[in-house]
Amino acid sequence: MISPDTLRQKYLDFFKSKNHAVISGKSLIPENDPTVLFTTAGMHPLVPYLLGEAHPAGKRLVNYQKCIRTGDIDEVGDASHLTCFEMLGNWSLGDYFKKESIAYSWEFLVSDKWLALDPKKLSVTVFMGDENAPKDEESAACWRNIGIPEEKIAWLPASDNWWAAGPTGPCGPDTEIFYWVGEGMPPAASNKGNDPDSWMEIWNNVFMEYNRIDAKTLVKLPMQNVDTGMGLERTITILNGKKSVYDTESFKPIIAALEAISGIAYGSDKDKDKDKDLSFRIIADHVRSAVMILGDPKGVVPSNVGAGYVLRRLIRRAMRHGRKLAMEGSFLRKPAEAVIAILSSAYPELEDNSQKIMEELAREEAKFLETLQKGEHEFEKMLPNLLKNPQKIMSGRLAFKLYDTYGFPIELTLELAAENGLSVNREEFDEAFKKHQELSRAGAEQVFKGGLADQSEMTVKYHTTTHLLHKALRMVLGERVEQKGSNINAERLRFDFSHPEPMSPEEIARVEAIVNEQIQRDLPVKMEIMSLEEAKASGAMALFGEKYEDSVKVYSVGDFSKELCGGPHVGHTGILGHFVIKKEQSSSAGVRRIRAVLE
Ligand code: SER
Repeated sequence: MISPDTLRQKYLDFFKSKNHAVISGKSLIPENDPTVLFTTAGMHPLVPYLLGEAHPAGKRLVNYQKCIRTGDIDEVGDASHLTCFEMLGNWSLGDYFKKESIAYSWEFLVSDKWLALDPKKLSVTVFMGDENAPKDEESAACWRNIGIPEEKIAWLPASDNWWAAGPTGPCGPDTEIFYWVGEGMPPAASNKGNDPDSWMEIWNNVFMEYNRIDAKTLVKLPMQNVDTGMGLERTITILNGKKSVYDTESFKPIIAALEAISGIAYGSDKDKDKDKDLSFRIIADHVRSAVMILGDPKGVVPSNVGAGYVLRRLIRRAMRHGRKLAMEGSFLRKPAEAVIAILSSAYPELEDNSQKIMEELAREEAKFLETLQKGEHEFEKMLPNLLKNPQKIMSGRLAFKLYDTYGFPIELTLELAAENGLSVNREEFDEAFKKHQELSRAGAEQVFKGGLADQSEMTVKYHTTTHLLHKALRMVLGERVEQKGSNINAERLRFDFSHPEPMSPEEIARVEAIVNEQIQRDLPVKMEIMSLEEAKASGAMALFGEKYEDSVKVYSVGDFSKELCGGPHVGHTGILGHFVIKKEQSSSAGVRRIRAVLE
């Protein structure tokens, strides 16, 4: 048995032995990125460096990163998809390229000193080429040189072998490594291309030498980068000879906690138990994600917008599946404790924030139980009329009303109806539901799609302006002001900060005047790399709760502000324009939000 802790350490040790600097993983909530709610890949926090900014730790990096991908939510419960997973990643920022990257991956996977996987159970895919980029002969040649037989190399199109985190940003062809999950040994001719279900992806090596500017424009980056991501949970599964991620140490204690509470056994493998086992898996996945989001230092709590809404959905979906396992009340505490016990060695913030995690879970459970009670009460009020209906059919319109007005899930309406000898016009409900979804889709797609901070000229200007604003707020409101979140796009900046009360019009005017004064002074913006200690000693502002490397980049704006930051920034403030605060409002308890523009 190899544990997740051991695998993480082995991965870091291996790449350290290849001169990679170990950097820490970042928050699940991206900073300065308006296009995504969560960090979706290990490369996400590294985008500025993949585009050419110098990284303070050098050109060879390795880490592990917690990620959330809600796009996979419908596949959760199969053998390998999760909403929260850990990515083991290594990067070359314009240093080595395909040959070394492929050789490193192979050595780590098959060498007796490292994972000692059977090479016969591995196969790979490479990019077949299209109008954007040529067939990746170079990667294929590297695999052949290593000794991979021709029939274990599948040539696939961009839909499989081109990786981009979003509609714009660094991207490129990739080569992916798969492990055999079929019975026995793989037939000689089997590969991902001709036998897709028998192979599970474990590692993706992306060769990022392109930058997508917009839908029509793809340009070469000034350097050739490597970005690899290995799925920790999947790799643990195959290393331990298991069929599914849920059978590994990453999940077993969570499922055991659910078995103890429900008194129902998991994993009978019988067809009649399929739905029940799926519920176990969905709850285990969702509790784990909820704990990781709640435990993040950036402090998301359940709400009706953004990341808080995703969190709410995960908790509520877990509770709905709990009811399928006869867990009617609150039950999330024990499985959440199991998650913290499993993951806190790698993510100590879970232990530090355990009280908050438990409180928020309990609060959300209570809220949802109240919703359910209200819905049940409304249903009972409708019941006498429904029973008068000779066909004993509840209209889809009424079922939708319960959903739309009270948040009452359709599954529960169906249950209550059945208990009272009624059926529900499901078609009508689905129609109403579809309409409702279409209305909200435009918004939802925006936030679920995944993507990158755009680095347009305006966005960069707003980024520098944010530094000026941060400092000006501390001057006007006091040093207790702390950045709580920043979200920038080409149209505006949005800045959240701790402050107990609304700002007065005079305070707002003073902040604006201070920022505009720095713009008029046309201050130079300079970057220096220094040790974290030096940076702190120099009085540079840092983000509370963010993890930093031992060596960091510090951006200073003249003599005015000094802040730890990845960049990029403008060269001097004179080009920023005129700064105007458009709105100052409450964001959450004790946190204010400013929207501001450059005119
Ligand atoms: N960015 C790639 C992925 O997420 C490799 O790290 O798969």
